[in-house]
Amino acid sequence: MNCKIGVISGDGIGPEIVAEARKVLDCIAEKYGHELKYEEIQMGGCSIDAVGVPLTDEAISKAKASDAVLMGSIGGNTATSPWYRLEPHLRPEAGLLKLRKSLNLFANLRPAYLYEELKEACPLREDIIGDGFDMMILRELTGGLYFGERKTEEIDGVLTAVDTLTYNEQEVRRIAKRGFEIAMKRRKKVTSVDKANVLDSSRLWRKVVEEVAKEYPGVSYEHMLVDNCAMQLVKDPKQFDVILTENMFGDILSDEASMVTGSIGMLSSASLNDTKFGLYEPSGGSAPDIAGKGIANPIATILSAAMMLRYSFDLDREADAIEAAVRQVLKDKYRTIDIMPQEENKKSSVTLVGTKEMGDLIVERIKNYEK
Ligand code: IPM
Ligand code: MG
Repeated sequence: MNCKIGVISGDGIGPEIVAEARKVLDCIAEKYGHELKYEEIQMGGCSIDAVGVPLTDEAISKAKASDAVLMGSIGGNTATSPWYRLEPHLRPEAGLLKLRKSLNLFANLRPAYLYEELKEACPLREDIIGDGFDMMILRELTGGLYFGERKTEEIDGVLTAVDTLTYNEQEVRRIAKRGFEIAMKRRKKVTSVDKANVLDSSRLWRKVVEEVAKEYPGVSYEHMLVDNCAMQLVKDPKQFDVILTENMFGDILSDEASMVTGSIGMLSSASLNDTKFGLYEPSGGSAPDIAGKGIANPIATILSAAMMLRYSFDLDREADAIEAAVRQVLKDKYRTIDIMPQEENKKSSVTLVGTKEMGDLIVERIKNYEK
């Protein structure tokens, strides 16, 4: 298969973790006889430094011309980086939001899975962890507070800021359908998360989800208020299969779910539209505090590359090979700093490795993977 992959290395740890994912993809291409072509696309702080804006029209065209885009991370330290003294629409994150919107990437899939081998890095009590958990957070990505009208103005001498949270029924319906479709291939349970006791947008969300649910009688569903969901995620994460929610709630809950799995450095994500195209990126941020140190965990990006093979290219066998190699590396007790066991006395039982070594170890295991 010939695939054209746009690559956004971005800022902070982005270039380091993307380099490892490319190493893994190259190994897959060689082993299974595919031709992968990469095209670098500039976005985020590095684009601001180079051309003054976080995303150019040319960059959007390049992304559109690709079969899929693999991304690292963008942005810097919001307290200290000069990027955050720019007007909001010129900051690094504005580039990412523009790209999501331009490509209509409304469905953001964030799997949160606890590897057996990483139970020791999980901050929850053993009795809560039980046999582990495996959920998919499906976050609406092109609506809500992120894209509503906003302004800051002085009213009667008082600075006042407004952000608006808008959803129409079509936007809710298409993401809800996606949620039920995903659930059909999993444990057939949808938890739709909203704040219907306060927000009109959530009451509409609930109504539409109920309509969509009728089309999927084989899937059980429930509504859950977002504050309760935040609590349930640490109280009993096993109860969740697919969590379906709007943009802002999904942003917050997916970070929480990732920590429950041990580290945000393990979580991949896919942002999809109605075609085979997708933007694949780790769920975590640019981690400017550890950028350039060679210690960032590349696994989330490598697993995002696996999602790309699965969802955009239908290369399931190849995606399986990557996922199996990641599992094997963990079984072989290699750990980046973020997934070290919490207890001192267990640290000596594993081997601490850096970003590049982790990438190499995964590549080795893909080469030896038989299928
Ligand atoms: C994410 C990030 C982004 C978001 C930021 C970088 C704009 O936190 O992908 O979760 O809020 O969507
Ligand atoms: Mg986030």
